Amino acid sequence: MMTELFEVIEPPVGALPARARLRSDAGVLSLDGTWQFFWSPTADTGKDPADPGTTWDTLPVPSHWQLHGYGSPAYTNVRFPFPVDPPYVPEANPTGEYRRIVRRPRDWRGGRVLLRFDGVDSWFQVWVNGEEVGRASGSRLTVEFDVTEQLTGGDDVLAVRVHQWSFGSYVEDQDQWWLSGIFRSVALLHRPEGGIDDLFVVAAGDGSLSVTAPVPVRWSLDATDIQPWSAEKPALYRLSVSTDAETVSLDIGFRTVSIDGDRLLLNGAPLVFRGVNRHDIDARTGRAVSRARMEHDVALMKKHNINAVRTSHYPPDPYFLSLCDRQGLYVIEECDIETHGFQLVGWRGNPSDDPAWADVYLDRMRRMVERDKNAPSVVMWSLGNEAGWGRNLAANAAWTKGRDSTRPIHYEADEEGVSVDVYSRMYPTYEKLEAIGQGLGPAPELPMIMCEYGHAMGNGPGGLADYEAIIDAYPRIAGGFIWEWADHGLLRDGSYRYGGDFGEPVHDGSFVIDGLIFPDRTPSPGLTELAAIKTPVRLSFDGDDLFIENRWSFTDTADVVFAAAGENLDVPVIPPLSSYRLTGVHSDVTATHDGRVLSRARRPPSVVAAVVRAGRSIPRPDRLGPFPLAGLTLDAWRAPTENDRFPGWDGEVSMEEQWRAAGLDRLVFSPGRGRYQPAGLDSGFEVDCRWSEAGGGIRLEVDIARLGEWQLPLPRLGIALALRTPDPGSVVFEWLGLGPGESYPDSRAGVWHGEHRMSVREAQTPYVVPQENGNRSEVTRMSLAVPSGKLEIAGDSPFDAAVRPWSTAALENARHADELVEGDVLWVHLAAGVTGLGSASCGPAVRPAARFQAARVRLAFVFTTLTS
Ligand code: GAL
Repeated sequence: MMTELFEVIEPPVGALPARARLRSDAGVLSLDGTWQFFWSPTADTGKDPADPGTTWDTLPVPSHWQLHGYGSPAYTNVRFPFPVDPPYVPEANPTGEYRRIVRRPRDWRGGRVLLRFDGVDSWFQVWVNGEEVGRASGSRLTVEFDVTEQLTGGDDVLAVRVHQWSFGSYVEDQDQWWLSGIFRSVALLHRPEGGIDDLFVVAAGDGSLSVTAPVPVRWSLDATDIQPWSAEKPALYRLSVSTDAETVSLDIGFRTVSIDGDRLLLNGAPLVFRGVNRHDIDARTGRAVSRARMEHDVALMKKHNINAVRTSHYPPDPYFLSLCDRQGLYVIEECDIETHGFQLVGWRGNPSDDPAWADVYLDRMRRMVERDKNAPSVVMWSLGNEAGWGRNLAANAAWTKGRDSTRPIHYEADEEGVSVDVYSRMYPTYEKLEAIGQGLGPAPELPMIMCEYGHAMGNGPGGLADYEAIIDAYPRIAGGFIWEWADHGLLRDGSYRYGGDFGEPVHDGSFVIDGLIFPDRTPSPGLTELAAIKTPVRLSFDGDDLFIENRWSFTDTADVVFAAAGENLDVPVIPPLSSYRLTGVHSDVTATHDGRVLSRARRPPSVVAAVVRAGRSIPRPDRLGPFPLAGLTLDAWRAPTENDRFPGWDGEVSMEEQWRAAGLDRLVFSPGRGRYQPAGLDSGFEVDCRWSEAGGGIRLEVDIARLGEWQLPLPRLGIALALRTPDPGSVVFEWLGLGPGESYPDSRAGVWHGEHRMSVREAQTPYVVPQENGNRSEVTRMSLAVPSGKLEIAGDSPFDAAVRPWSTAALENARHADELVEGDVLWVHLAAGVTGLGSASCGPAVRPAARFQAARVRLAFVFTTLTS
């Protein structure tokens, strides 16, 4: 038996103490670019560190080798993809040998030269000209080595050997793809003699500033009038700090995070996180995320009223934090520690409570705190995620408090609030959250946040508005962070892939596809919903009174334009955290800020029923408008959403299972009885359809009644029409109702009543895992147009509509978007109601109010042919 170096539990060897990230006038040489590369399926590569690898393949740095044809990505959530036997790892330990020639720049006179790595997954060793410089792990943490003695001034061979698995993998069990290699930047840094290696700047909300440096320094601040920093107004000031040898600069923001009783405050005002959890992820490059991608994401967050990010579950690239500083996002920065897989073995051997791991834990915390201690956006340190509890975490909390007294400590699994300053929960039920708001349960003296809630897997989350109401009602609750910002789908062969698509023997399927934006960064309906709910200026109607709430903590409404029916409303400036009531408002209102609509208030539409009296009865027609009618059936089924597939925290049986048990997915029609029932059961539906002439059109009346006494909520209840047409995706769909996006009973804050128009293809929401989508609610009138004509459908009462270029069965059976192909039928689903979405894939099930429970419904439509 032999222990390999990468199985020795130790902090980096030969590395320099962690220090602040500073912008400097000292030399920096990026080593990003093309490196020589050799890949081996096991740790023993047979390669000599002195070998420049001139004849090998090449690989870009930063990148992951699995995304360049070496080995494969693998996805697990909780489970380790190797036997749990810390600190040992399997023989199959894919290993990359990296080489590159480096040359110390001529003008770097005197001083030292450092080699800096910002992210290498998971363990690596470094040599220069065959001489070992050091070794390190801590995949998402910066590490620096002093290579002054090894560099000759000529061409030197830099060798890095990276192993996929190491002891470090046991504390890096985050819910994400296992991806390896040098995935963040590498650089050589010149450190002049007498330079400024480190700085700790504390800039408080009252304008006071303290600068601590290891050497005597001079500093100057580029500011006349100091404004405090907040996510709303991210005022930054350039601080320059110099010695004779070096000048460094920092963008500092003046702010104070404090806790007053059970309230979390920023600059004395309530700090409420309207946040998301963000992983490093890009569909093409994995965790090697470009600056452009980060900039785009931050802009998208700001545009959607998000004010906070938890860097789940490790420190991000430092550039991301600089964006948060500049654009204004509050950050909970989380340490690169997660040992979740130990839970599956009863937490036996959990490193969090094993003294052998104490130094490794402390080193990880230090590397995070030291690097980012000057970032104004970082308002809280998190010890890690799902690492159980133990003395090493307690020690990290204690060290951090001693080192930085300005930021509270967060860690969700410290359930009794022993070491933390805020009490944190994941995915609480509404009832539990409400109880916490009232100060019940553990640590009632602390402010509370939801570090994760609103699981955005597939179609969902539903029920965000109800969470928001509880957050608003209880000042102890300082908001929360949706799980999560982006789907982790990896692009392969034109489609987004998830767990199991790379032949992994153990995997967790599509659990990694649970973001508010799709892998291509298109906002999902969930993000639109979130933006509406998190709006800083909330509008609502109370009869003819418009109620306006300014939810900003630091900004008044001076720059907000309130308009109704094309006219600006006369609204006084509303101070932060105040509200105003405007009487006598008779039309829809928008609040606009900087050209962006912050919110809309719609007056409930007065429903004008299409009262067309039924005329002479007729048999079922062969055509409706320009479309041959190929079929009409009862419709009481939907392609299960991923939330439908789970029971949820507060349920025992998933919606899908209950629906299948009732046979809703396999109803058969008995024409003699007008009944739709499943094999083996006597329950089902009785349906009566009557066609008649109605003015220039055709009227259909449908009466649907449940057979028997069953109470189950139904996915939907109505009819489906199959209309034959050669190119169903191109049919133009117009409707009067909620839109333009999809909506469900518990997700309809981001849509509004109006006339909407798009193609059938555009009306599909491209969830990575195909599932129910595209429902439009409160529709009173719709039309479907092809070049040869147009069919108009008007309802007697508002209905739910979905139009699709494929059947529900096809939607249900497809596992990836590219498996869905348009046929020659346009499916038109018209329902009296549908069940909501909930968040049961990880959280509560659909709330009772959002379940469609009716025992009997009557629908009536008038179909009219129009010439388009
Ligand atoms: C949480 C965990 C996240 C993610 C989520 C489910 O427990 O912290 O990393 O796994 O569940 O998607």
